[in-house]
Amino acid sequence: MNTKKLSESYWDKRHQLGDTPWDIGEAAPALISYFSKNSLEGKTLLIPGAGLAHEAKALSKIYPNTRITVLDISQSLVHYLQDAFAGQGNVTIICEDFFDHDGKYDFIMEQTFFCALDPSLRKAYFSKMFELLRPGGRLAGLWFHCVFDKIGPPFGGDVEDYVQDAKTFFKEFTIDYHPDSIPPRKDREVFLEFIKDSHSQ
Ligand SMILES: C[S@@+](CC[C@H](N)C(=O)[O-])C[C@H]1O[C@@H](n2cnc3c(N)ncnc32)[C@H](O)[C@@H]1O
Repeated sequence: MNTKKLSESYWDKRHQLGDTPWDIGEAAPALISYFSKNSLEGKTLLIPGAGLAHEAKALSKIYPNTRITVLDISQSLVHYLQDAFAGQGNVTIICEDFFDHDGKYDFIMEQTFFCALDPSLRKAYFSKMFELLRPGGRLAGLWFHCVFDKIGPPFGGDVEDYVQDAKTFFKEFTIDYHPDSIPPRKDREVFLEFIKDSHSQ
């Protein structure tokens, strides 16, 4: 499998320069809404490629007893987050490549992480997500469903192709073509939920 990854230093530089046009400055409403319908009480959540982790901030207040793991490859960003979340015992911040991460989670959130990866890594992304979920666990969030003018990141695409790659691992999934998107992303993203079979390990 081709593993054409953008380096840690690429992402670290972008964070250091504040070159983060993907950051929407708040938790995405569609994600908060999903986790108000799917309770995180007594569950674990992983947010890979979390950036400034607005969702972790919001959800850790709603679910103070839930363990939230925030993971990002950029060291300077992670140092910033470790300060920002200091004293919040339910949030763990890890600096690591997602593909090297070990753990088991009930939920994993997607928010502009998939589009940050070279498209050659998409099958590997779904395989790793499957591995990191507990039986019955869910991968849920927002995926761009559009093509971008410039070569990425962000790398866009078609939701049908994403689902095709995911199907090797996830047999059950839902697609919402009209999520509660922020205005600049309206009609350009979909909400997907992939459920790991409760008999799979
Ligand atoms: C487009 S940004 C999205 C950030 C955040 N999810 C948001 O929506 O604001 C992608 C993030 O993924 C991180 N990242 C890229 N490749 C990664 C990898 N292989 N493992 C972990 N994090 C990675 C980058 O440092 C960056 O913070």
